[in-house]
Amino acid sequence: MPDLFSPYTLKDVTLRNRIAMSPMTMYRSTDGLMNDFHLMLLGSRAAGGFGLVFAEQLAVTKDGRTSVSCGGIYDDAQIDGLSRVTSMIKDMGAVAAIQLGHTGRKGSERKPWDGGEQLPPDHPDGWQVVGPSAIPYGGKYKYPVHALSKDEIKAIHASFARAAERALAAGFEWLELHFAHGYLGSSFFSPLANQRTDEYGGSVENRARFHLEALDAVRAVWPERLPLTMRLGSDDLNDAGVQFDDAILAVSMMKEHGLDFADLSIGINTDAMHQVPFDELGFMLDRAARLKRDVGIPVGTSWNLGLPALADKVVRSEVIDLVMLGRPALANPHWPVWAARELERDDPFDLVPEDWSWWLSNLRAHPACVGWPVNNPPAMDKFDGL
Ligand SMILES: Cc1cc2nc3c(=O)[nH]c(=O)nc-3n(C[C@H](O)[C@H](O)[C@H](O)COP(=O)(O)O)c2cc1C
Repeated sequence: MPDLFSPYTLKDVTLRNRIAMSPMTMYRSTDGLMNDFHLMLLGSRAAGGFGLVFAEQLAVTKDGRTSVSCGGIYDDAQIDGLSRVTSMIKDMGAVAAIQLGHTGRKGSERKPWDGGEQLPPDHPDGWQVVGPSAIPYGGKYKYPVHALSKDEIKAIHASFARAAERALAAGFEWLELHFAHGYLGSSFFSPLANQRTDEYGGSVENRARFHLEALDAVRAVWPERLPLTMRLGSDDLNDAGVQFDDAILAVSMMKEHGLDFADLSIGINTDAMHQVPFDELGFMLDRAARLKRDVGIPVGTSWNLGLPALADKVVRSEVIDLVMLGRPALANPHWPVWAARELERDDPFDLVPEDWSWWLSNLRAHPACVGWPVNNPPAMDKFDGL
């Protein structure tokens, strides 16, 4: 029976454990480039014991970014910065993963802490957003959406393939398509955003066509020996949107188009969800279990799995193969070390680089002073009145 710290092999790639840092957009790029900030962020999580480390969603076209400060992989000039990141991740013992995406009708935004609103197409930091149909996302997204023509869809798939070639050149070994969270792929899958009457709209088969063609385009250039995965908007939590049964059917078709692993998430194609689950423990787990059972494909998911005992339990029961951690990875670069200690593994420090672990294991220290919380803090009165 595997546990959270069992190695995990998919295709020719083996992770040292089942803990992945989930992709997180950081608004820290200029011209889509990775820089020292990304090297620090991702390198430290690899050094902190994560088995798989995702860079943020990287846009396959310039107008596929969330904001002008977001990362991209639409230009060969972006490969160098990405290569620095992948070699650091590898050097720290983890596998480097990339998430390719296009934000579709949810692009052209300001940074969240500058207000996060969508900018109009004629703003210096804005652009014309695109989608399957000319339907803006309700709420804060108010500018008109350009409905993509079939030729434009083809061009976007070609951009995914070109980005996958750059990802390979930059040293990534795990590739995920971001087709969740209301971005372009997610909006093609959702009847809330996609009201096309051609072969890309209507039935589940048609709404998943964008996904299948993207998989085909990427698989043609991404080696068979490396994992190709997708984060899927598998439920819109709205009666008129994607239902989870749609995802079961779509993923079973994707399996025939080279999908190796499904990273389940929600659609976020509307704010009008009948259940807003964001603070519920492990709220994707029942769907993950069903997908694995019904489709027989390896599955990962995120959303409130940062409790070590829960993460370990759902790997042991084989509900999921990989635990994807977002906020816990931001809050604690050494989450895997902390989890190893909470789960009473023999040597939690064997997860960090030898340069640190040797000292931590061999240099005598007061047990309350190695850098993590203790259950019974020692008395400190002898220091009173010094
Ligand atoms: C700051 C931030 C940025 C995020 N950016 C992305 C992203 O680029 N791509 C993506 O698929 N999910 C993104 N997410 C979602 C996370 O990957 C993750 O799925 C989500 O936070 C739920 O997991 P958690 O409960 O462990 O945080 C982001 C989340 C946060 C907090």
